[in-house]
Amino acid sequence: MSAPNKSFDPVEVSTLSQENIDENVANAIAAIAGANSLDELKEVRLAHTGDRSPLALANREIGALPPAAKAEAGKRIGQARGKVNQCLEVRTLELEVLRDQLLLIEETVDVTMAAATVAQGARHPLTTIQEQISDVFLALGYELAEGPEIEAEWFNFDALNIAPDHPARTMQDTFFAGNEDSGIVLRTHTSPVQIRSMLKRELPIYVVCPGRVFRTDELDATHSPVFHQVEALVIDRGITLADLKGTLDHFAQSMFGEGIVTRLRPSYFPFTEPSAEVDLQCFVCRGASIDNPEAACRTCRSEGWIEWGGCGMVNPKVLVACGIDPDEYTGFAFGMGLERTLMFRHGITDMRDMVEGDIRFTRAFGLGV
Ligand code: PHE
Repeated sequence: MSAPNKSFDPVEVSTLSQENIDENVANAIAAIAGANSLDELKEVRLAHTGDRSPLALANREIGALPPAAKAEAGKRIGQARGKVNQCLEVRTLELEVLRDQLLLIEETVDVTMAAATVAQGARHPLTTIQEQISDVFLALGYELAEGPEIEAEWFNFDALNIAPDHPARTMQDTFFAGNEDSGIVLRTHTSPVQIRSMLKRELPIYVVCPGRVFRTDELDATHSPVFHQVEALVIDRGITLADLKGTLDHFAQSMFGEGIVTRLRPSYFPFTEPSAEVDLQCFVCRGASIDNPEAACRTCRSEGWIEWGGCGMVNPKVLVACGIDPDEYTGFAFGMGLERTLMFRHGITDMRDMVEGDIRFTRAFGLGV
C-alpha cells in the first residue's frame, strides 16, 4: 500500500488509473471466457477476485487516497468488480449446464450392448435331494435331526447293538480319528442320530436325518469314501411293521412317482429286529421287464426291483439302552444311500460324477430346490 497522500488525483495512482482497471477487467473477462470447466473457473475466480487479485489490490489503494478522491475511485473499482462478478456468474451457469449435459452423456446406458456373460452356478443334486426328502417328512410332521460327522464309537456302534467284534468295526470299514483305540470315528452311517434323538428328545419321536457318512472305500464307479444317507426314526406307542411299510411306500412315491411301492426282504441289522432290505419297485418298467426279454429294462436289469436301503423295527435292546420302555413304546427305522438314490433316479452310471464337482454335471440338474 502506498503512503497516505492528500493532494494527488486518484487516476494518477497507476493501479487506480482507468486504463489499468479496464485492463484488469479485460484480463478477467478473457480468463473467465477461457475457463472450460467449473474447476478451471474456480481458479480464475481466485486469481481475478481473490484477495491477491489486481482489482483487490487496487481497491486497497483507495484507503490511501484523500477523502475527496475516495468516492470516485471506489465507484470505478466497484463497477469493475461488479462486471467481473457478473461475468463469473454467467459463466458459472453456462458451465453448470455443460457439466450436467456431459454427465448425462457419460451415464448413458446402452441397453443394446451385449452383456458380459457370468457363468451360472447350480446347486449340487445331493443338496437338493436332501432338501426334497426332508420336505417329504416334515410334511408328515417329522422333525429334522442332525448329528456330528465325527462321532463317538459308542453312538456309531455300541449303542446300536453292534458288538466290538462286529466286522463293521474293524479298520476295514471305519475311519478312526487318531488310532483305533481313540474311541472316535467318522460316522459310518446316519444311525447314531437315532441314538442321539432317543436320548435327547421327548417321546414320541418322529425324525428324519440326512447327512454325510464315511467308509474306507476306494473311489470308483459305485463307491466313495464319503457319501450320504438319509435316516428316519419313529418311536411311539403301537408302532408296527405296517407303519414302516406304509411310510416307505409314501416316501417311494414322493421320490419316484405315483403308485411306486416298496418290498421288504428279510435281512439283518443288529439295531433292528426284525430287519429287512428295502427294495424299490422299478419306476421305469414297473416290473414289466421281469421274464420279458422283449421289454428289457436297464434301470432294474429286468429284475423289477431295485435295492434301496435297510430298515426294521427298532431292536428292544436299543430302546432299553436309550432308557425307553420297550413294553410301552415300539418304533421303526430305515436308512438309504442318497448317491444310489440319485444314480438310479437320474440314470447316473458313475459315482465319481457326483464327487468331482464338475459344474457341467451339476448344472444338468438345474437350479431347482
Ligand atoms: N444304517 C444301516 C446301514 O448303513 C441302514 C439302516 C438304517 C438299517 C436304519 C436299518 C435301520 O447300512
